[in-house]
Formats: sequence, C-alpha cells, structure tokens
Amino acid sequence: MINKDILLIKKEIINKNVYALTFKCDDIAKIAKPGQFIHIYLPGYTLRRPFSICEIKKDGIKIVFNVRGKGTREMAKWQEGLSVNVIGPLGHGFSAIKNTDRVLLVGGGMGLAPLFELSKHKNVVKALAGFESENDIILSSYFEKYLNVTICTTDGSFGVKGLVTDFIKKTVSLNNINRIAACGPKAMLKVVANISREIKVFCEICMEERMACGIGACLGCHCNIILKDGSLQSAYVCKDGPVFDALSFCFD
Ligand SMILES: Cc1cc2nc3c(=O)[nH]c(=O)nc-3n(C[C@H](O)[C@H](O)[C@H](O)COP(=O)(O)OP(=O)(O)OC[C@H]3O[C@@H](n4cnc5c(N)ncnc54)[C@H](O)[C@@H]3O)c2cc1C
Ligand code: FES
Repeated sequence: MINKDILLIKKEIINKNVYALTFKCDDIAKIAKPGQFIHIYLPGYTLRRPFSICEIKKDGIKIVFNVRGKGTREMAKWQEGLSVNVIGPLGHGFSAIKNTDRVLLVGGGMGLAPLFELSKHKNVVKALAGFESENDIILSSYFEKYLNVTICTTDGSFGVKGLVTDFIKKTVSLNNINRIAACGPKAMLKVVANISREIKVFCEICMEERMACGIGACLGCHCNIILKDGSLQSAYVCKDGPVFDALSFCFD
C-alpha cells in the first residue's frame, strides 16, 4: 500500500455528471490489480473517498466517477497539473484468470469502472452493460475496443430492453462462459449471485459499500461471509473485499 501525492495528468468529461481522471503513478500502477481501489484525500474533508481503479496503464491509473455529493462535486472541478494525495492500491481485487476460463463481465452503470481492466484479458469474452436509459450509457466504447458488449437499458431506449440480469443465463450458455465478474448496485449483485449459484458458474462480485478508513481500522464497512458449514464470519469490505466470491458474500 502506497500513500503519496500523485499528479493529475488527464481529465476527461464523459458526460455532464461523469468524469475520468488519469494520474501519473508508476509505482501504484505496477502493483495494482483489477478490482482494487484508491482512497483519495480531499482538502477540507475528514474522510477520504474510495474509487475503483478503472484502468491500469504503464505509468499511471485512471478512475471514473460520477458526481454524487460534496466531495465528488469538488473533484469534478480539478484540473490537470493538480497534485492529489492517495492511498492505494487497496483491498482484494479479482482473482487471476485461468487459461481455461471464459469470462463474462456484468456491470451496472458506474459498476462498469472496476471491470474495464479485466476486459483486456483474452479469456474475457463478453460484457453485459446495464443502464437506466440511453442518456446514462457510459464506458461502453472503452469495452467495445476489447470485446463484444450487449447494452441493456431498463426503458429500452438503446440496445436490448431489460435488466442485465435478465440476459445472464442465455449469454452464459451461448458463449460457454464458466466464470462471471460483476459490479453494480447491491440489489443487482444479489441477483447475479443467485443466478451464478443456480447455474453453477463461478462468480466474483465487487461491492462498493460506503467506507471510512479504507484499511480495516474503523470497522465501518462490516459485512458477513458465509462459511462452507453455513456459519457466518465477520469481514470488512475494504480489506477482505471489495471483490468477494459471490457464493460466500452474505447480502442479508
Ligand atoms: C470500493 C469502492 C469503490 C468505488 N468506486 C467508485 C467508482 O469507480 N466510481 C464512482 O463514481 N464511485 C465509486 N465509489 C463510490 C464513491 O466512493 C462515492 O460516490 C463517493 O465517495 C461519494 O462522495 P461524495 O462526497 O461526493 O458524496 P457524499 O456527500 O459522501 O454522499 C453523497 C451521496 O452519495 C452516496 N454515496 C456515498 N458513498 C457511496 C458509496 N460508497 N457507494 C454508493 N453511494 C455512495 C451517499 O449515500 C449520498 O447519497 C466507490 C466506493 C467504494 C467503496
Ligand atoms: S472502511 Fe474502515 S474498516 Fe472498512
């Protein structure tokens, strides 16, 4: 884990509420894994803000975020050349993809960000990307550079009409998928986990729960893990996740 000031070298406006920031930090990039996150310090705010590492480049990393509250509103004003204090990479990312894997990515909205780096792997063969409507579509062009993407919109204004979870079973069977990686709203991840259990496909989910310290010290992101014997064990999203085996994460 590295704690240092890093330089903002590129700011992209994806749409009126979504921004991508690229930071120069070869040391963080060298050790970062898909699914891990960085914790960003915002001057004047006690709590850092966590963001998934969307892309790992040779000499830096990219995050993509949407403006939700005061902190992200502040970040949207940042300009290239600014120095920003971060801690990272933090948490457990996705486990290594094996030669025999055929991976499906399932992302809902901003949940696509931590999945993007995986899309570059040759064994990641397909992505399902879900949005409310055409105006909410983000990052699809990033993924389309590397794999086939089906865009699903709830209102049917673009792509196929429905929720990403409506298309998992068919996509798995058509593409001989034996592994799923998913990120999105908790309700979506719960459905993905249930489907993967039903169709017996290994699945990892990336949870973006609210957090405070980000390093397992404040106990603010407590969750439960289901052990093989059915008993529950305490865990923390920031240090035991944010990526969990879908079978072991307790949603209740
Ligand atoms: C591991 C992890 C990775 C994340 N990766 C990304 C990412 O790649 N891109 C991105 O846009 N966001 C990501 N988030 C969410 C992001 O951290 C929050 O949106 C951000 O901290 C909100 O800060 P704020 O000061 O703008 O909002 P606040 O003023 O703190 O809150 C504003 C609103 O945002 C909601 N909110 C705050 N934190 C979260 C959260 N963790 N998850 C969902 N809703 C939240 C609050 O409930 C509130 O409604 C991630 C969160 C975690 C825990
Ligand atoms: S955020 Fe403090 S323990 Fe996870």
